[in-house]
Amino acid sequence: MLVKIIDYDHMGRGIAKIDNKVIFIPKVKLGEDVSIKLVKDKKNYSMGKRCDFLKVKYCPYYQTCGGCQIGHLTYDEQLEFKKNTVKNIFSKYTNYNLTDLEIIPTKCYNYRNKVTFHIKGDKLGYYEEESNNLIPIDKCNLLDSDIITLTTSLNSFIKVHKKLTKAIIKSLDGKLMLILEGKESKESINKFFSSTVSSLYYNNELISGVSSLMIDVLSKKFMVRKDSFFQVNKEGISLIYKEVINLVKELDCTIIYDLYCGTGTISLLVSDYAKKVIGIEVVEDAVMDAKSNAKINNITNTEFYLGDVSKVIKKLDYIPDTIILDPPRSGISKDLIEFLLSLKVKNIIYVSCNPLTLARDINLLDNIYHLESIKLVDEFPNTYHLESITLLKLRRKN
Ligand SMILES: C[S@@+](CC[C@H](N)C(=O)[O-])C[C@H]1O[C@@H](n2cnc3c(N)ncnc32)[C@H](O)[C@@H]1O
Repeated sequence: MLVKIIDYDHMGRGIAKIDNKVIFIPKVKLGEDVSIKLVKDKKNYSMGKRCDFLKVKYCPYYQTCGGCQIGHLTYDEQLEFKKNTVKNIFSKYTNYNLTDLEIIPTKCYNYRNKVTFHIKGDKLGYYEEESNNLIPIDKCNLLDSDIITLTTSLNSFIKVHKKLTKAIIKSLDGKLMLILEGKESKESINKFFSSTVSSLYYNNELISGVSSLMIDVLSKKFMVRKDSFFQVNKEGISLIYKEVINLVKELDCTIIYDLYCGTGTISLLVSDYAKKVIGIEVVEDAVMDAKSNAKINNITNTEFYLGDVSKVIKKLDYIPDTIILDPPRSGISKDLIEFLLSLKVKNIIYVSCNPLTLARDINLLDNIYHLESIKLVDEFPNTYHLESITLLKLRRKN
């Protein structure tokens, strides 16, 4: 059937309507007349798939791969889509009408410094969208050039050694960490990869090189271990952290809480501009990394606590003037919202990777805190994902 694309949803899927029923269709363009087939038909909506083969210059797997959703749009169209998505979400779920919304662009390709490949026999690749079907990949142009080179070596290795199941590659400031799983012999892996990578793990054991790598971000050093969380786009995170630092400088902060602090990146980067920074994080290894990172950078005005943010925060004795939030996609818990409403801190800097939960949380905080500014950073070009940095300020009447 032929349909006209009248809008996008927040995940970059096109929206068409037939007899007033909404159809979501991935990888189409606004205004396009496209021939589709229905792949799912529910009571309130349907899912469609375009019939023709959609070619994009940077990737031969684009139509089936689940990694990118909006790479068929020009970069200007991608940025416009992301701005409009945030504007629409805010006008639907908050009292704010975002008119002049700024989005900071980043490099479109070769930006990812981490990848996870699934391996089946002599094939390595990503899963197809919403399935476990493996799409064999020779080269993914979102990955940085060192990872692309190592992917070629991995592909030649598995042509002969067919018992690997998974490969994770991290590439940090020119050094590579390769984490493999499977039933191959340790010796063959060591022989093939130990001279190419700085850190080689096999089935959770370090079999060659160093156990962690270092990355330099905005003149501070951060240790990244095998299981540490670290953002995947160095240019993107540097832009986000710069925005946070600028806000902290402008706000003249004294005591800062960095909630959901991970390995302490934000805490350490803002520590030059405050008397004290206290980070809270639920993953034990991340808290250990945060403490090590403070030592590596000779920083003495930070403290890190392990546990659930909403519980740990209630036990702290400090009186913060600024709270930085960088929660997972699910946003902040109801418990923490209630606590922030009663705490009446002067400033909240909210770093978010999900505009839907950001808007929900801003709305819940709105009686006490008003939205002062919001900026977007396009950390993940060709995908629908984006990051935002929002400043909320205590309302005057409080
Ligand atoms: C988006 S990451 C932010 C990490 C860090 N700010 C950074 O820039 O690398 C979110 C972090 O929140 C942590 N987290 C999730 N739920 C939590 C909770 N209830 N209490 C404390 N930390 C939590 C996760 O382990 C993760 O490290």
